[in-house]
Amino acid sequence: MTKLKLAALAALLLTQGAVAATSVDGAAIADEKAGANWLSYGRTYSEQRFSPLQQITDTNVGDLGVAWYMDLPGQKSLLATPLVVDGVMYFSGGYSVVFAVDTRTGKELWKYDPKTIEAAGDRLRVMWDSNRGVAYWKGRIFVATADGRLNAIDASTGKEVWSVQTVDPKLPYFINGAPRVFKDKVIIGNGGTEWGPLRGYVTAYDTATGKQAWRFYTVPGNPADGFEDETQAMAAKTWNGEWWKHGGGGTVWNGLTYDPDFNRIYIGTGNGSPWNQRIRSPGGGDNLFLCSVVALDADTGKYVWHYQTTPGETWDYNSNMDMVLADLKVDEKPVKALMHAPKNGFFYVLDRATGKLISAEKIARATWAERIDLKTGRPVEAKGARYEDGEELIYPSAFGVHNWHAMSFNPGTGLAYIPIIDVPATFTDKGVNYKQWNSPSFQFDPGLDLLRDDLPLKIDAAALIAWDPVKQQKVWEQKLPGVWNPGTLTTAGNLVFEGRTDGKLLAYRATDGIPLWSTDVGVGVSAPPITFEVDGKQYLALLTGWGGAGVSMAGAITAQHGWAYGMHPRRLIVYSLDGAQKLPKAPPPTFAEALVQDDFKVDEMQAETGSHLFLKNCVTCHGGGAVSGGYAPDLRASQAVVYDEAFKEIVVTGSRVQQGMPRFHELTDADLKAMQHYIRRQARKATVAAQLGK
Ligand code: HEC
Repeated sequence: MTKLKLAALAALLLTQGAVAATSVDGAAIADEKAGANWLSYGRTYSEQRFSPLQQITDTNVGDLGVAWYMDLPGQKSLLATPLVVDGVMYFSGGYSVVFAVDTRTGKELWKYDPKTIEAAGDRLRVMWDSNRGVAYWKGRIFVATADGRLNAIDASTGKEVWSVQTVDPKLPYFINGAPRVFKDKVIIGNGGTEWGPLRGYVTAYDTATGKQAWRFYTVPGNPADGFEDETQAMAAKTWNGEWWKHGGGGTVWNGLTYDPDFNRIYIGTGNGSPWNQRIRSPGGGDNLFLCSVVALDADTGKYVWHYQTTPGETWDYNSNMDMVLADLKVDEKPVKALMHAPKNGFFYVLDRATGKLISAEKIARATWAERIDLKTGRPVEAKGARYEDGEELIYPSAFGVHNWHAMSFNPGTGLAYIPIIDVPATFTDKGVNYKQWNSPSFQFDPGLDLLRDDLPLKIDAAALIAWDPVKQQKVWEQKLPGVWNPGTLTTAGNLVFEGRTDGKLLAYRATDGIPLWSTDVGVGVSAPPITFEVDGKQYLALLTGWGGAGVSMAGAITAQHGWAYGMHPRRLIVYSLDGAQKLPKAPPPTFAEALVQDDFKVDEMQAETGSHLFLKNCVTCHGGGAVSGGYAPDLRASQAVVYDEAFKEIVVTGSRVQQGMPRFHELTDADLKAMQHYIRRQARKATVAAQLGK
């Protein structure tokens, strides 16, 4: 063939590629049948995370191997669901850096850095570096940053098109959720209720200009300022006391589902600010719209209906988990259903035409309530559940039975695949001074007494369950290691894929849960896998990086896996049936060895003071009980804590801000000393526990 002919052939191939280019709009995102692309966080508007692709099946999944991988140096927590549009993958990493990668070559096309740390200021204290994903609409990528911006990027160049600040920078709001797009609008919420007096809301912006289209508040503001509309006035009737002083809460930090059938957006709302209802709304009340699914008109943001999963919440049992849409048949009648498994341990099926509850059953241990009364739609609470007598061991803990790790739903099997957690917590308000409690400002304080001691050293209290939403019963269950396992993917190949805390990625047969394939990825997994097709071949993709609140705050529970800070490489790994690449050998799990400082005499009073300071300022990243789950260095093993000058330089002067360690300019020398006593006390406890072989 002559050169000319080759060039002509290449040009022809290129044009063919161009003809097939997908216009990513509402029709494309709603299309359940087209399987090549992954266009939205939950793949399509239904958020089912179900792929119709069926090259990889329950008979050949054992042949999966690494097609290619990409090292992501400098990345720590990788939680995102990547998107794929015509062979190009887009995903967000830490601090909302966005990557575009050619899936044919595995090469980076562009990288966009919104400079989150520079923009963060004091917000660096209250946020995780992680981001759960981007949105795509008509040639633009949308990503939110932890400091509260929503940014639009040109998908072909990676250049910023517009940027809006969506929160008041004086308040400890942060964002790490994925925006959603519909009808030339992009919507985003926020989080942060544990760090200040926040009032939750979602805002929709024009995708072309970034101009605000509408905003909906999830809790009412101060009545003296007048309510925005009758919905807020209605919600205010369910509150007591001066809730607005504490913000109320209800932030929408994760679950958002657009419903093209009804042109509505469903928002999953957060817990109270503070968690403890006796502070927030003394005398009780349902406290609308905390812990609810709220349906809004997508054009106007006006309230349509709500269903509250946890009235008068007082345990952090928020409803921020994903809301999955499906056509179900209940009692032989077709129902446009919304499925939701919030933290509180129940699986809800709602009729999304009306918001009426169809059914609700426990998917795991949940001792705070006996059941949901189907007549009233309300939980029947167990005695003592509100820890009114001082202290109560309750299932689940504030991490919930199900957290943000998304479930998937397979219309073929009719089953939802949910990662669940089976951990209780002692809820108590013993140390809380009700008369003097004030909302924190950029400090962690949910109005309860918790997390100051380390938790059990080793615990496997998690499972992947397959749940039948129509019969409301479990069909199969596989035990999982640890606690903080990621979200799932299900496919028409009769498969369910899920990564694990112990650094493995597994495939199960969707119908009966039999494990069919397992591979090591070298670090704990926190992101859900996706699948896509390019040039006629199906691939499976996963971001590997350990992160999220469970890793950063749960202390020993997540430290048990040995994914020590900065040790294990972060990657994008892409698998195919003929993949034959080898991943470089990863370092083995590595555990912090607490420094023994014999000449340091721990003063119990100081350590106690230090424990409170640590809880308020450091626990978010360095872990409950000063045991690091791998999100930040383990301070019990840190030399920097031992030397006063070094400690001050890092914590007060802020010498590591660029690495994600915030600056605490207000902490005094006495505060630092108290924290040193606390950290040394925790270090000594660890050494004793290790000697006892616990
Ligand atoms: C938002 C998360 C976050 C919070 C909150 C936070 N840290 Fe850090 N810290 C980090 C990260 C990330 C690093 C690692 C930085 C690096 O790579 O050098 C770090 C590093 C450190 C180090 C250095 C450890 C070593 O051996 O290198 C010390 C000491 C430290 N932090 C103390 C504290 C104290 C004390 C508090 C509370 C007053 C605190 N940190 C709060 C994220 C945080």
